[in-house]
Amino acid sequence: MEPTRAASFPFVPPTTPPLVIDRTEGVWLITSDGTRILDAGAGAVVTNIGHGRPEVIEAATRALSKIDYVVPLWATENRVALVEELTEHWLPDGFSRASFFCGGSESVDAAVRCARMFHVSNDEPDRWKVIGRDVSYHGSTLSGLSVGGHDRRRAGLEPLLREHPKSGWLDPDALAKVVELEGPETISCFIGEPINGASGGAMVPPDGYWRSVEEVCRANGILLVVDEVMTGLGRLGRRWGYEHFGIRPDIIVGGKGLSGGYAPMGGMYAADTVTDTIAAAGNGLMYFTFSGADLTCAISLEVLRIMRAEGLVERAAEMGGLLRRRLDEELGDHPNVSDVRGLGLLQGIELVDGTGQPFPRSVEFAQAVAGQAIGRGLWVYPCGSGPVDDALLIAPPFTISAEEIELLVSTLAASITAAADGVA
Ligand SMILES: Cc1ncc(COP(=O)(O)O)c(C=O)c1O
Repeated sequence: MEPTRAASFPFVPPTTPPLVIDRTEGVWLITSDGTRILDAGAGAVVTNIGHGRPEVIEAATRALSKIDYVVPLWATENRVALVEELTEHWLPDGFSRASFFCGGSESVDAAVRCARMFHVSNDEPDRWKVIGRDVSYHGSTLSGLSVGGHDRRRAGLEPLLREHPKSGWLDPDALAKVVELEGPETISCFIGEPINGASGGAMVPPDGYWRSVEEVCRANGILLVVDEVMTGLGRLGRRWGYEHFGIRPDIIVGGKGLSGGYAPMGGMYAADTVTDTIAAAGNGLMYFTFSGADLTCAISLEVLRIMRAEGLVERAAEMGGLLRRRLDEELGDHPNVSDVRGLGLLQGIELVDGTGQPFPRSVEFAQAVAGQAIGRGLWVYPCGSGPVDDALLIAPPFTISAEEIELLVSTLAASITAAADGVA
């Protein structure tokens, strides 16, 4: 494709034309001139089962040849089968309901509404605030940005956002202090990612953090919402990221890996205590026109079946261990790497200037590394916000091989060095 034609695609006119991808297969993105790019970000941490699975394509064809659009209120075979798959094999005991959306942001929005409707239904109408965290990302709807803490993605939009309280990231006592300050009787829910993704590059909270969050929530009638859009469905080597921390959420938000990138899809799941309370009060939760389309349910169902048939959650744990060991070995002492962290196949690298300090924001160092990596045939996800200016997410499909991990790590090391040389 001509670069000028490609440049017509971004909504905001770009300074350089976007990359043009012609095909995807396995862990590879292939450009129109045949260049192969190792997809070590799984797109935006989405393509957990890898690209180009014929079974998924067949499931989509079967679904679409039978049903196109059915209003989200009614049941279809694929809708019900997906709820059954999730409740039988993925969700914790006591979660027998699932709702589907077109992505993570819509699912977060639904979780915020669901928590509020629970309290309204429970005769506690003063509870509406959502406590989020300083370094977090919960999507780019106005509600997601309001409860999130990604300063780059909020910038300029602040007047449109309702300022919900934030608790710090690393301090287990921060939530208790915020609850006391705001008044527990005003708080609907706490929302957090088990380990953060796009905002902080896979920062793992300290031991005891999540248990103390759960205790504060329980003691104050606050619903505990885990945003598993990035971490869920095996990415951290367990079914859900929160399982690493021994807690029990009231609401789980998912997306990304649910369809493995084969369809726009997200999910919001709540404990029966939440949905039963809403039902008993005669309340409900409004859907979106395209919520849980039969097609996207059929695709997600096939993706989850593949995950189970191939033991991909266990594989994410195993390959995550290998990836982490090789990143530590190759990058642990790199002058531009201050930290390697993460769980399973969501690994993060924090980048610095060689003296241990962040580069000035204007350098956009994480973007520079990602640019160098693309030039060498590797995609990694540049990210960072607030105190974590420059980070990378290394999050390949769960099907990545040991040889591909070697290629990933050596290419990444060369890309960081080249980007730093380019700044000097
Ligand atoms: C934790 C988390 N929540 C919500 C979202 C928003 O999901 P989406 O981009 O599918 O709307 C993301 C996206 O990266 C995410 O990482």
